[in-house]
Amino acid sequence: MLAGVLGPDPDPVLSKEEGVGDPISGLSTWEAGLPVPTAQIVVGDARQTGLPANSVDAVVTSPPYWQKRDYGHPDQIGQEATPDGFVSSLMDCLTEWKRVLRPTGSIFLNVGDTYFKRSLVGIPGRIETAAVDSGWSIRNRIIWAKPGGMPEPARNRLAVRHEYIIHLTHKPNYYYDLAGYQQYLGVAANPGDVWLIEPERDMSAHLAPFPREIVRRAISLACPPQVCATCGRPRARVEERTDQLDESRPQAKRAMELARQHRLTPAHIRAIQATGVSDVGKATKFQSGTGRNSLEVQRLAAEAKAALGGYFREFTFARRETVGWTDCGHGTPGRGVVLDPFVGTGTTARVAMDMGRDAIGVDLKPMVQNKICRPTLRDVGRCLDATPTLF
Ligand SMILES: C[S@@+](CC[C@H](N)C(=O)[O-])C[C@H]1O[C@@H](n2cnc3c(N)ncnc32)[C@H](O)[C@@H]1O
Repeated sequence: MLAGVLGPDPDPVLSKEEGVGDPISGLSTWEAGLPVPTAQIVVGDARQTGLPANSVDAVVTSPPYWQKRDYGHPDQIGQEATPDGFVSSLMDCLTEWKRVLRPTGSIFLNVGDTYFKRSLVGIPGRIETAAVDSGWSIRNRIIWAKPGGMPEPARNRLAVRHEYIIHLTHKPNYYYDLAGYQQYLGVAANPGDVWLIEPERDMSAHLAPFPREIVRRAISLACPPQVCATCGRPRARVEERTDQLDESRPQAKRAMELARQHRLTPAHIRAIQATGVSDVGKATKFQSGTGRNSLEVQRLAAEAKAALGGYFREFTFARRETVGWTDCGHGTPGRGVVLDPFVGTGTTARVAMDMGRDAIGVDLKPMVQNKICRPTLRDVGRCLDATPTLF
């Protein structure tokens, strides 16, 4: 899996490292050649955007709920007579988004359920089933938990306090930057698939507000900050594992103490990391080429195991550090592109630009106040510079 971006870029230009694979460099190397982030608002249907194929890195969107709000357009999605009709409309959307996504792209789809004849209809599950049947991979079903949701009048059931953010991909080798996301949240471990986010209630602008925090998280996970304008490859974070553990955890602290006490060397730690918890190595640098660890690595790992006992595994969780970003060498910098095909008031587009990505918004009736930009609809971002209250 590709690793990706966001957050500080402490390293300037780095040269190609033995064994890492692609050449790498710092993000700052490309920064000077990047144009300002832009937004493009297209009036159109999410199922037929007219956008070029392979031009988008991430779709982040919140479609209409089924049978809730009438947007007053004959082609609107959400007013289908049956749940199946609604799911079928969304599958048409996925087909179109697959066309515009690069192979490394992802979709983050915010969906909620609907009560109909006193029962939940099961909309999210139906969407997931149909998507998997159409060849999509569901990488996560993220629960968006809303601590302070809207009051509900029901007296015979609990108030609904969650929706889903479904992460879909169509190729196995998609861009994903868990390290950047961890940096963004300020956590060391994988933070899990429950997002506790307060709804944003700007009801004056729209009846279905989409919290900016959801967009920030999706972008930091799945939209690269830099993409080659020639070959379309996203720049991916290159990481190496260190021999340092997070000593705020008592087990990790004890493991470090034992390693110092027994004078384990960096080669011992790398041997543990190559060996993992079994003797089938993961780190190619230390493998013999046969898929098994070399004898020397096995010897070092055995020494480390004798010294560390049950704390041996701790070093398989050692901190990683970013050593650079893949660099295809074309020298044609571009920004990652986020598409919201139900852009509404423009939440996604604004957040994307704030995060240094280009944005595209599609909507049958966009609520972005882009009148000033009408002559140059394709460059709302520049207009935003001049009129920051545009959206
Ligand atoms: C839930 S709202 C999106 C809200 C948006 N995330 C925001 O922050 O304002 C759904 C939007 O989908 C649009 N819409 C409905 N059917 C559509 C279709 N077939 N193609 C494109 N947009 C559509 C509506 O006009 C509405 O703006």
